[in-house]
Amino acid sequence: MDISARVEAAITRAIAEGQAGTPPAKLASALEYALTPGGARIRPTICLNVALACGDDKPELADAAAASVELIHCASLVHDDMPCFDDADIRRGKPALHKAYGEPLALLTGDSLIVAGFEVIARAAHHDCERAMEMIRIIGKRTGMPYGICAGQGWESEEEINLSAYHKAKTGALFIAATQMGAVAAGQDAELWEELGDRIGEAFQVADDLKDALLDADEMGKPAGQDEANSRPSAVTELGVEGAVQRFQDILSGAIASIPSCPGEAQLAQLVQKMAERLVPAKAFQAAE
Ligand code: IPE
Ligand code: IPE
Ligand code: MG
Ligand code: MG
Repeated sequence: MDISARVEAAITRAIAEGQAGTPPAKLASALEYALTPGGARIRPTICLNVALACGDDKPELADAAAASVELIHCASLVHDDMPCFDDADIRRGKPALHKAYGEPLALLTGDSLIVAGFEVIARAAHHDCERAMEMIRIIGKRTGMPYGICAGQGWESEEEINLSAYHKAKTGALFIAATQMGAVAAGQDAELWEELGDRIGEAFQVADDLKDALLDADEMGKPAGQDEANSRPSAVTELGVEGAVQRFQDILSGAIASIPSCPGEAQLAQLVQKMAERLVPAKAFQAAE
């Protein structure tokens, strides 16, 4: 099975688990609405590629890791769009979940997805308890306080934002979880894989700032120009388009150089390069010329 089929199958299983029995129908439907159709699925794709580069000797654990990181990511998007955060009406080209189902169900959908992100690993734990425990530790650290996406969102309530802590927690955290859980699922040491996730996260954030500044809502499937509208710090406001493109390229080279030695190192380097290039809108390269 190719990587994207593995990711979709893992998400489909998580949806089925969440809808099992005789659940409240609207919340059951909202779970599916939040997870499908997906966006780029970049985090689970990175996670499985790292697992494969490390030998992928326990594919069930790697699939659980991939599902876990995407479930938590989708939860963060549902909560992030709610009126108490970014108050965004569209996500992935369709009405944001609270627009389609109302705020109470959006809150509960996000909560349920976070819980499911942990449960999916516990359910696969019999394949290797020690690895599964380590994966749960990693996803916990990168979801909550003080290093996870909760911390990232929390920075937005501070008078003064520590920009690097903000980006690292809001965006970097789940990329770190993706590389580390992929490695741990295949029996490798998590620590060696933190830098790759961290650097991919940084590159992703710069690319996201470029998209926010240069693309319109139709091209993105979500509101554009939000950084400026919400006075959010952004690489484009800080460095201009050209500077941001340069920063992106520097971070990407660092990311690739940081890949730990493993059987699939060369292939993983190629993949990271290819995936990252697709993140930056062509307009940014043209503007930077
Ligand atoms: C958007 O993430 C949220 C940020 C952390 C900036 P993605 O751009 O990966 O969203 P999807 O999953 O592809 O929709
Ligand atoms: C949202 O971040 C996702 C989280 C990491 C919680 P943003 O608010 O910057 O991203 P978009 O633009 O809504 O996708
Ligand atoms: Mg936000
Ligand atoms: Mg937002």
